[in-house]
Amino acid sequence: MEKTTRIGILTAGGDSPGLNAAIRGVGKAALGYYGMEFIGFRDGFRGLAENRTMQLSKTTLAGILTVGGTILGTSRDKPHRMEINGQVQDMTQAIVDTCKKNSLDVLVCLGGGGTQRNALRLVKAGLPVVTLPKTIDNDVAMTDATVGFDTAMGIATEAIDRLHSTAHSHHRIVVVEIMGHRAGWLALGAGIAGGADVILIPEIPYEVASIAQAIRKRSRRGTNFSIVAVAEGAMSGVDWHAREAADQKRAAAQTETDRQAAKLELGTLDARHAGNTMRLARQLEELTGLESRVTILGYVQRGGTPSPADRLLATRLGTACTDLIDKGVFGVMVAARGEGTEPVPIEEVAGKVKTVPLDHPWVESARRVETCLGD
Ligand code: F6P
Repeated sequence: MEKTTRIGILTAGGDSPGLNAAIRGVGKAALGYYGMEFIGFRDGFRGLAENRTMQLSKTTLAGILTVGGTILGTSRDKPHRMEINGQVQDMTQAIVDTCKKNSLDVLVCLGGGGTQRNALRLVKAGLPVVTLPKTIDNDVAMTDATVGFDTAMGIATEAIDRLHSTAHSHHRIVVVEIMGHRAGWLALGAGIAGGADVILIPEIPYEVASIAQAIRKRSRRGTNFSIVAVAEGAMSGVDWHAREAADQKRAAAQTETDRQAAKLELGTLDARHAGNTMRLARQLEELTGLESRVTILGYVQRGGTPSPADRLLATRLGTACTDLIDKGVFGVMVAARGEGTEPVPIEEVAGKVKTVPLDHPWVESARRVETCLGD
């Protein structure tokens, strides 16, 4: 008799709306349609290294489609550099052992860019792995979309809609900080959908003077409020050049001392960047004479019920994942491609970041409706 295929699944990296919908998609197709076995690992790669499992039956999967977060728990732990009892250890072999102990035929990893890199390490260690792309940042390479982005964009758009009330009633500038890591998809998408007057993204270094000029122009024609949607990774031209230079130093470092010095410089720049949105608001207040306030959306963007589009995407990717497993296709990420899906080798995804191309239609449209992009 043929052995029943046994799937292990984990969620890693930041939580994201639609993770449970994806777990359900994989699980229902695996357990029901294909008659496979299905087991969960808690808290990302840490739970896998520590062999902490969760039984996933049809009953466990019932009712989770609309639930935010992940029933499995998550973490940002990396297989090859995990802190165990106060010591950083390479847990790759422990992970391989866990997979053997649980008689896994395949490990499914749901995650963003970091997870794709970690999954590749496990592929190189000989494990059969399939990944699914999720992140509110939409920055995973080789896929049209990532689970969680649509929901987060909806939340950020609604926030901008609501911030308009205070901005126009009090004649203020409201600077709203939107997540996205080093990519501008979330700020750009929500900014356009919410009608932000200024949108600042990491891909386009900004000049504070240009932003102030655009806001003053609005004031002159009688619109004395403005909404500035700023991506958490957006930078002024000066800061952008400083970071580029430090990055290049790190890449060119020949010795460990040079590498450490460049890393320290990058760390200092990143620490300074943490206060960027507050600094920007102060500068705009000084330059325009309009009161400025800051709203940082933070984890609100990752929380709660996934949108219909994310539920659909998660279900499509999850079920396509089991189709690939059934065919014995491993070492791939299930990418969203148009209305369908496509397996892409994990090594073609890992280590890449999908940023907003400067000629992307969203950028062009934003410029056409006279949104200031800070350049
Ligand atoms: O990747 C998702 C994300 O929310 C990014 O937008 C943000 O930069 C990061 O995670 C925040 O990470 P943490 O969960 O560690 O605070």
